[in-house]
Amino acid sequence: MSQQVISIGLEGIVVAETELSLVDGINGLLVYRNHWARDLAIEKTFEEVAHLLWYGHLPDREELNRLKSQLVANRTLPSYVKAAIDLIPSDVDMMSVLRTGVSLLGNAGHDWPPTMDQVISLTAKVPTIVAYRQARLEGREPVEPRSDLDHTANYLYMLKGTEPNQAHVRALDAYLILTQEHGMNASTFSGRVVSSTRSDLISAVTAAIGALKGPLHGGAPSGVIEMMEQIGTPENAEPWLRKALENGERIMGFGHRVYKTRDPRSEALQVVASQLSADDPWFALATHVEKVALKLLEEYKPGRKLNTNVEFYAAAVMRAVGLPDTLFTPTFAVSRTVGWCAHILEQAANNRIIRPESLYIGQMPK
Ligand code: ACO
Repeated sequence: MSQQVISIGLEGIVVAETELSLVDGINGLLVYRNHWARDLAIEKTFEEVAHLLWYGHLPDREELNRLKSQLVANRTLPSYVKAAIDLIPSDVDMMSVLRTGVSLLGNAGHDWPPTMDQVISLTAKVPTIVAYRQARLEGREPVEPRSDLDHTANYLYMLKGTEPNQAHVRALDAYLILTQEHGMNASTFSGRVVSSTRSDLISAVTAAIGALKGPLHGGAPSGVIEMMEQIGTPENAEPWLRKALENGERIMGFGHRVYKTRDPRSEALQVVASQLSADDPWFALATHVEKVALKLLEEYKPGRKLNTNVEFYAAAVMRAVGLPDTLFTPTFAVSRTVGWCAHILEQAANNRIIRPESLYIGQMPK
């Protein structure tokens, strides 16, 4: 038998070359195709950055208008998808509803390789699925998407059914840009694995949604809100966190497989959140909890280099724009769909089935 190298959790294993993003975990840097993600979040819009990731360059005016109108033209859900969502019991969580709704868009059958038209159609519909379900849960009649609004503004409009606040749109746009893409994370890898079998785009993204849902990945920000609620006051931060660490629990919003310094997205989102929440006691408590948690993590997990990840201040931004915590992870899916699709296109352009091995440690038959 050949010598096998084992890497639990595939840590340190490079499975693909990519032109999409560089995640530099040592220096805390994030690049999307030759641009700092942080600068893109400040200067560009959701559609411009999606264009960069999908087509390889920032769009000129004509290209941007074309992409915007293609997204607008694809926002409406087929009536059978709405009818199916209406059949799902109200206690089923939003990520499961999104996973189901997206999987129903799979009328492309076994269409492979994926096309840009499919990518645009899917990206346009993900926010509509989430907003449609949210309106139903709140007992409101879902509003139809608006063709005069950009992707982020329309998402907020559909979620609330009212004209979106511009400061909220800008803050949410920054969040959605900063989370569009992030290298070979668990959900992206899941999507690439499915796509590598020459299965269709919808199946690949359905798998990615399932991976994003987990609390160790995209499910963390609602855990941050829950933790903040339980902590309640600055005085309670240290005893609460100490007890959690003594019980071997994980502090949500801290730690990252790649970043061994502060996640650059966390830094940028802290600024975005502070602009909206300067006077909010919740935000003041969050910055205090961060400080105490960093000290205690160093005490309980010395040398592990556990810092704030994207989810900590993502929770602050989404809370500040008025989203309930049940929408945090689905909103992450709204943005990450762009990165998933970019990776699935990249996988298809140079495909080889992803098929690692396992090391048999059971007994041999006599
Ligand atoms: N709180 C307490 N301890 C932690 C934390 C944490 N948040 N994160 C890691 N550790 C500890 C582990 O207990 C382990 O300690 P040990 O060596 O004494 O057993 C050590 O640090 C290494 O942990 P691993 O699980 O091996 O680290 P890994 O790189 O596999 O995990 C992960 C990364 C899953 C993100 C982890 O840090 C974690 O669970 N964080 C909390 C959940 C979270 O915020 N997830 C969002 C990540 S960002 C994203 O996916 C978009």
